[in-house]
Amino acid sequence: MRLITFPATALFIVSVFGLRSVPKCAGLDEDSLCPSREANELCQRQIFSDFLQTLYVEKDPIKAFNTHVDVQLIEHDPFDEQGRDANAAKLSNIIPSANFTVLRSNFNNDIGVIHVMVKEDPEPAALADIYRMDGTCIVEHWDVLQYRPANATNPIAMF
Ligand SMILES: *[C@@H]1O[C@H](CO)[C@@H](O)[C@H](O)[C@H]1NC(C)=O
Ligand SMILES: *[C@@H]1O[C@H](CO)[C@@H](O)[C@H](O)[C@H]1NC(C)=O
Repeated sequence: MRLITFPATALFIVSVFGLRSVPKCAGLDEDSLCPSREANELCQRQIFSDFLQTLYVEKDPIKAFNTHVDVQLIEHDPFDEQGRDANAAKLSNIIPSANFTVLRSNFNNDIGVIHVMVKEDPEPAALADIYRMDGTCIVEHWDVLQYRPANATNPIAMF
């Protein structure tokens, strides 16, 4: 009985406390959340989660960046240019055909992180993207990429 009712209970809890408790956040229905407007942390979490959904699940970098990223994006990837449009264009050549699995993500104190397993041959790679938000808008990005060596000694290396 418990086994049968648990999923329904869990769904109920998710829908009541997850979706319906989302606060009314100014600007969420607008085409762009940049330039930045003020937002509390609950709204920022919702915005960051929408950004992740668009970029990593729907794999639509242009939409994700036009909606969520500042035109003057500060970019720290050693091979990327500055600014929203250059990075959106670069990602739109990579993300739609890439194979990866989102492992976890979090948002706290203006910083959002996502940990991704990227399918590479012969071993998967670990990617961490770190984003800084100013109010409603993502303004800065760092990334860290690690390849799993074939001779890894830890049986649970990286994942
Ligand atoms: C992604 O995986 C699919 C199915 O396994 C495969 O056909 C495709 O070539 C892979 N794409 C990349 C970029 O590895
Ligand atoms: C794993 O392989 C790399 C590259 O060949 C080598 O530099 C490293 O010493 C090796 N590490 C171990 C623990 O075997």
